[in-house]
Amino acid sequence: MDSTYPEHLRQEVDGYLEAMRFSDEPLTAGLEDAMRYSLLAGGKRIRPVLSLATARAVGIEQSDVLPLAGAIELIHTYSLIHDDLPAMDDDALRRGEPTCHVKFGEDVAILAGDGLYAEAFRHLLTHQRSAPDRVLAAAAELAAATGVNGMVGGQYADVRQPAPSGTAELRRVHELKTGRLISASVLCVLLLTGIDDGPGSAPFRRFASELGVLFQIIDDILDVTGTDDALGKPRGSDERHGKRTYVSQFGIDRARELAAESHRMAREALAEVPARGEQNGRSGEGRPHATAELEGIADFIYTRTS
Ligand code: IPE
Ligand code: IPE
Ligand code: MG
Ligand code: MG
Ligand code: MG
Repeated sequence: MDSTYPEHLRQEVDGYLEAMRFSDEPLTAGLEDAMRYSLLAGGKRIRPVLSLATARAVGIEQSDVLPLAGAIELIHTYSLIHDDLPAMDDDALRRGEPTCHVKFGEDVAILAGDGLYAEAFRHLLTHQRSAPDRVLAAAAELAAATGVNGMVGGQYADVRQPAPSGTAELRRVHELKTGRLISASVLCVLLLTGIDDGPGSAPFRRFASELGVLFQIIDDILDVTGTDDALGKPRGSDERHGKRTYVSQFGIDRARELAAESHRMAREALAEVPARGEQNGRSGEGRPHATAELEGIADFIYTRTS
């Protein structure tokens, strides 16, 4: 993976996910197999890695937010399983492997997605060791980010025919279908830490929301310029389905310019993150900014080829 990416955090996330089990009895073991098949097939782990990097940026232990980070990756994996279904994007390759429905059948794949979603909240609410009101606030944000005014609403807008037209509408679809879960990966850590409405939270919010849009612009570009091998999913899926993307809307060159703008804005927001210790409005402890990993993630998202 690209050198700017905090690989050590990805490995920590992978280890954590690997240890997750869901089924308590033989009757449901096959469902767990399908869930773990998609969960452990690989993946860049950008969302949970963002949570860990945010924890480090605000000065708490990265391991303290692993239950949240794990829950977010379960939800992301569910979204991929359902996104690939024949009724949605009808794709046969994901994370370099046959998609969940190709391997286990559509019925099991639908249930594997449903199972991952429910288990995500069970995991967060059972294992996240923070003050109960903060865990609830993070859970509420995660539910909102993945609900009708978030990911699922964005997926609806994406499959709806005719697709919404206009530049602002396209950005809105991207904000909802991809941006909100990426944002939540940062915001939920602020909520768990209790600094979500302090003066230090605004730059994190701007960073998170710009990063989410950047991520999907690059995803649109890679759907045209990437390879199946590097992407681990079929190139050209968007064009095959006549999807409105940043490339179909603006052309590849303009899409690249817009990605560059988004990347610049995300980086500028990060540059305004106050030093640790100032984030609650308290005076700083004179420690340096701790946003290096978040910067690395932003650069990776902008330059990635997979
Ligand atoms: C792909 O997400 C789905 C989108 C939201 C565009 P990723 O590119 O993060 O997929 P993985 O997790 O690395 O497989
Ligand atoms: C999917 O967007 C976003 C979600 C899964 C919520 P895409 O359909 O562009 O994702 P890929 O390209 O299949 O990964
Ligand atoms: Mg899709
Ligand atoms: Mg898709
Ligand atoms: Mg795509």
